[in-house]
Amino acid sequence: MITTTGLTKVYRSGRSRGPEITALDGVDLHVREGEVFGVVGRSGAGKSSLIRCVNLLERPTAGTVTVDGTDLTALAGRGRRAGKELRRARSSIGMVFQHFNLLSSRTVQDNVELPLEILGHSAQKRSARALELLDLVGLADKAKVYPAQLSGGQKQRVGIARALAGNPKVLLSDEATSALDPETTRSILGLLRDINQQLGLTILLITHEMEVVKTICDSAALMERGRITESGTVGELLATPGSRLARALFPVDGAVAGPGSTVIDVTFHGESATQPVISQLSRTYNIDISILGAAMDTVGGRQIGRMRIELPGAFEENVVPVGFLREQGLQVEVVETAETVAGVPPTADLPDATEPSAALTEEGAK
Ligand SMILES: Nc1ncnc2c1ncn2[C@@H]1O[C@H](COP(=O)(O)OP(=O)(O)O)[C@@H](O)[C@H]1O
Ligand SMILES: [Mg+2]
Repeated sequence: MITTTGLTKVYRSGRSRGPEITALDGVDLHVREGEVFGVVGRSGAGKSSLIRCVNLLERPTAGTVTVDGTDLTALAGRGRRAGKELRRARSSIGMVFQHFNLLSSRTVQDNVELPLEILGHSAQKRSARALELLDLVGLADKAKVYPAQLSGGQKQRVGIARALAGNPKVLLSDEATSALDPETTRSILGLLRDINQQLGLTILLITHEMEVVKTICDSAALMERGRITESGTVGELLATPGSRLARALFPVDGAVAGPGSTVIDVTFHGESATQPVISQLSRTYNIDISILGAAMDTVGGRQIGRMRIELPGAFEENVVPVGFLREQGLQVEVVETAETVAGVPPTADLPDATEPSAALTEEGAK
């Protein structure tokens, strides 16, 4: 539904020949019809540039963007000066913002009607559509109030209703829940999920919160310094040894012992009962197994468990037990040394994009 090839965006700061900033560096992205696709990354990674290039608010320096079969990059104009064809194509793309971007002088209903006014619909048609959408987002009783009278979560619901006004096939969301508290975040994510399922809408969302990916994404990509460094369905990522996104989505803690023992992370999906497997392992090979850490969670609607265990002896001595676990259909990753573990940035610490981040300025300076 959304495909980018070699998407590149270079900003030139200042009017003259200032330093160039490569915000996007050859991004190939493929979002399938009907899926919720999350792009995660630190502040300054290029996430907003990506989304602004996907709807051609920003003209890419190189590469192509195809949405619903139309090559947007082939159409003329950009931003507010977009040509007629580009404007029409863009009306099939809805956009939701972190700070809602509502007009304070207009009522909730008039905010939702705005895109329809621009498309030239009649007052009667606009009104009917706006009320229908406000009902969909659970704000049927707020049509006549002003944004200032709404909570953050309600404002975002209005933002979502407005994004849906033009009957888009695709919804783009740039940190739509970053300004909201955890409970409101959950309710907005629930709404996005409902819309995705009820309307068959494809959603490309940008976030720095792993929780968002866990809750609603079918697929995800990790963006770093203008590139996509990992991507796949959540299931594929979890099954990829060494995937940093998987580790961030599903961290297991547990101190790693020094030499003389082998530490492994075991991942299991759904019903596969680990406990019997671990005790079988212990009995079969007559070894003592220490459980260093364990966690269960739901990722992409599936139950996932992870356990970090320690086996006595160096890895060479544990080849057979590790093979045994793999034979049971478990995913097994050997945790090398304490250093390696510390070296893996737990992406859970991705900085809050709502704060002016030092990372952004540093990245910008490079
Ligand atoms: N309009 C712009 N002009 C110049 N540099 C920009 C502009 N927008 C973004 N950048 C730079 O591009 C890089 C990526 O920014 P952005 O896409 O906003 O990242 P993210 O959304 O992941 O925080 C940053 O270094 C940022 O400073
Ligand atoms: Mg951003």
